[in-house]
Amino acid sequence: MKLCVVEGDGIGREVVPAAVRVLRQLMPELEVFSAEAGWDRFQKTGEALPEDTVERAKEAQAVLFGACSSPSYRVAGYSSPIVSLRKRMETFANLRPTRFLPVPTAREGVDLVVVRENTEDLYIGDEHTADAGDTGTATKRITRQASERIAHTAFRLARNEKRRRVTIVHKGNVLPQTDGLFRRVAYEVSKQYSDIETDELLVDTAAYWMVKDPSRFDVVLTPNLYGDILSDMAAAWGGGLGLAPALNIGVRVAVAEPVHGSAPDIAGQGVANPTAAILSAAMLVRHHWNKPDLADKIDGAVSDALSQGNYTADILGAEGVSTTEFADLICGRLG
Ligand code: NAI
Ligand code: MG
Repeated sequence: MKLCVVEGDGIGREVVPAAVRVLRQLMPELEVFSAEAGWDRFQKTGEALPEDTVERAKEAQAVLFGACSSPSYRVAGYSSPIVSLRKRMETFANLRPTRFLPVPTAREGVDLVVVRENTEDLYIGDEHTADAGDTGTATKRITRQASERIAHTAFRLARNEKRRRVTIVHKGNVLPQTDGLFRRVAYEVSKQYSDIETDELLVDTAAYWMVKDPSRFDVVLTPNLYGDILSDMAAAWGGGLGLAPALNIGVRVAVAEPVHGSAPDIAGQGVANPTAAILSAAMLVRHHWNKPDLADKIDGAVSDALSQGNYTADILGAEGVSTTEFADLICGRLG
């Protein structure tokens, strides 16, 4: 089994090594390759995502990605390497779970997964201006093919994880030819999974329920943009960004990545919370390498360490354990 590790920028260089230690402890046979991507790499060589990194990722078929810094202004030749990597690896689904973790910042009773379509919708990059820049237009593309495969992903996940319900989230009342198509295809696919309940919410109502009562949700099946927004809302109930994992999956390659960014405000201090990176690695173990027993061990060790009050500084604001101390605590619990 092979893993391509891309630490990236900022705290990616701290939380990813912590997660790799956990994986090595549990799977000593794992072959780990390192590869570079990100803003620092771009500044050194003019390439944000080197071809060599893409090749290593393809060869390993599994990637653990930290985070990359992206400037908020346009830089010629630079585009976000994680967005490019998701495209190049054809990862069409982004799984973003939020479950209660024993920290004071999390909400009890929350256990949901946002299954976000990763390849189309407003993210296809077809955007242009007219009227000397006074009119902007972006194309929202929804296809039967992409809607079918993401719907199957959501229903299979529900079945595998013994979840009861898939909620289709859309805005088909205003966008019948795009979101309406997504909704229709999702209902068609649902007929093949009669053991799973299916319902639907308009995205604005879904946002209301995500704030008011997130325990209403189980699996959320939704196009790209709504998935981006709703999963960040859900992450707040899971205890915060330092605890929110994600996994991109597709045909062959899986890319695990914490939801958070490079956190330049705390980078280099050794205080970043490695939980999101460790739980993302556990998702790789569970969904890609198909080893649920090992993934349960990681999840259990994280819950146990947190329930005993081992918090990094982001959880309570007070002095906490360091990134490496937290990784030590997890490795110690894995035997
Ligand atoms: P961010 O997620 O990096 O940080 C937001 C806040 O959360 C900061 O106060 C940070 O200290 C805190 N935080 C995040 N992760 C943490 C962790 N593991 N432990 C403790 N505290 C943590 O988002 P921000 O500040 O908006 O973006 C910073 C940079 O990251 C930008 O250049 C942005 O483009 C990039 N970014 C990259 C992503 C990726 O590579 N997937 C995703 C989001 C942002
Ligand atoms: Mg986002």
